[in-house]
Amino acid sequence: MKVFRDPIALQQELRALPESIGFVPTMGALHLGHRTLIDEARRDSDIVVVSIFVNPAQFLAGEDLQSYPRKEEADRRICELSGVDYLFYPDVEAMYGSDEVWVSAPDVRGFILEGYSRPGHFDGVLTVVLKLFNIVAPTRAYFGKKDAQQLALIEQMAENFFLHVDIVAVDTVRDSDGLALSSRNVYLSDVERREALKIASALKHAGKMMAQGVRDATRLKQEMQHIMASLEVEYIAFLNREFHHIDQVEIGNTIVLIAARVGDTRLIDNMQL
Ligand code: PAF
Repeated sequence: MKVFRDPIALQQELRALPESIGFVPTMGALHLGHRTLIDEARRDSDIVVVSIFVNPAQFLAGEDLQSYPRKEEADRRICELSGVDYLFYPDVEAMYGSDEVWVSAPDVRGFILEGYSRPGHFDGVLTVVLKLFNIVAPTRAYFGKKDAQQLALIEQMAENFFLHVDIVAVDTVRDSDGLALSSRNVYLSDVERREALKIASALKHAGKMMAQGVRDATRLKQEMQHIMASLEVEYIAFLNREFHHIDQVEIGNTIVLIAARVGDTRLIDNMQL
């Protein structure tokens, strides 16, 4: 595995390769969810590139930029063992100058849910992803469905900017108890982890009710809210695939999204129907 810290050097190296490139952008603290993305990339493409960059532009003031888990050695080993060909590990100065051109999230889809709770977050995500795409020039890029709104906006950016990359959406990986894997799960104490399970339980319960024919989003939300009563729920949203709010579930065209705080940790999860 080759490790690059310099964007231009990596760009030159990758541009010279004739093979297809599967790209997995990450912020490190790699877990099984990331490994699943890497495995998918390995299956589909000749060359696998992983980037690890804790992108300051997507953290708001007061968020966990400083404490975000950084595990360079362990991550490097995971990449090596997973058959990654190139690891891109830039520092902030290599990725950002001052007074730069910026990507803006779209006015509606970018400013609901996560965009509302974390204003500016998606501008930072889209800006860094566009930079990374231009450095790596991947054939395919892999993103987890857990960050459903991020995924939708990256798909939209690829379409709106005519980017030459296939965006591959990969299912959320869960622990055996149902908790969606996230680098931020390391912040949870044992008690908080048990509390956090209520998020997956609420989604599961809603899934069961829908399987029994319940379609009314308000009723489903009330039941989910009840299960998560001890958490600080930021939103429970029922959207269609266009990311418009819906009152009635349409099987095949509905995504249910949750954001909740467990102690100081903010978690998101969703279920697609
Ligand atoms: O999902 C993430 O880990 C980040 O938002 C991403 C896509 C790597 C951009 O920094």
